[in-house]
Amino acid sequence: MITVRTVADIRAAVWKARHDGASIGLVPTMGAFHDGHLSLMRRAREQCDRVVVSLFVNPAQFNDQSDLARYPRDERRDAALAAGAEVDFLFAPPVEQVYPRGFATTVSIAGVTESMEGAHRGRGHFDGVATVVAKLFNIVSPDVAYFGQKDAQQVAVIRQLVRDLDMPVRIEACPTVREPDGLAMSSRNVLLSGPERERATGLHRALAAARESVAAGERDATAVRAAAIAALPSGGIDPEYFELVSADTLVPVRHIDGEVLALVAARVGATRLIDNDTIRTP
Ligand code: PAJ
Repeated sequence: MITVRTVADIRAAVWKARHDGASIGLVPTMGAFHDGHLSLMRRAREQCDRVVVSLFVNPAQFNDQSDLARYPRDERRDAALAAGAEVDFLFAPPVEQVYPRGFATTVSIAGVTESMEGAHRGRGHFDGVATVVAKLFNIVSPDVAYFGQKDAQQVAVIRQLVRDLDMPVRIEACPTVREPDGLAMSSRNVLLSGPERERATGLHRALAAARESVAAGERDATAVRAAAIAALPSGGIDPEYFELVSADTLVPVRHIDGEVLALVAARVGATRLIDNDTIRTP
């Protein structure tokens, strides 16, 4: 695996691979790798001739400066894990490569960005994600880009970006990888204390309660939501939202029929966690 620091160098490497007829897969990340990230790299490895992983903690998408400062970083460990997953190129640029002096463009998407994560983290969050992902697509020009369903709203935002700007890249969404007790893997999990780690399983339990309520015949979204929120631990976890939305449009549903997406966000101590699951009526 080769670690590349500059836009010019990754462009040259990809250009050469493409010239040789190779297909290119891109896995955008902010590092602190866990099995969720590695599952995307493995999927890319199966499907593409060359795999590029970008590792860039994107300041533009952090609404909260203390969250940015606390974000876990360990490039040496990440490089070893990516090499183990047989990644070809680790693109780990310094901030000035991505946002040079005078940088003045923001990619801003309406609609799907406005609820849930967009409402709670602020408009700037998805602007930052869309801008950096648009840049990565322009820099690497991948055939396929891999994203985790763990960030379901992010996947919807990226699909909208690609559709609206006619970007020639296929978006592949990969299933959420979980710890044995159901907690969705996240780079932020390392920030949880022992008792917080215990309480963090509440997000998954709330999603399970929603699914059980639908399986038991409940179809009213308000009632399903109440069952989910009741399943959260009573102390030390602060829910921000629990939404039941159409899987395609992310518009809230009132009545559950067919396939809906349940999404939850909560603060556990100082750490903000999200999770989601698809619920189908039998
Ligand atoms: P990051 O949080 O590092 O996540 C990188 C990719 O890994 C995302 O597509 C995310 O959905 C996926 N991922 C995270 N946890 C996962 C899990 N438990 N199972 C499966 N996939 C998982 O998401 C970002 O970075 C950034 O917003 C980025 C897209 C890189 C733009 O800066």
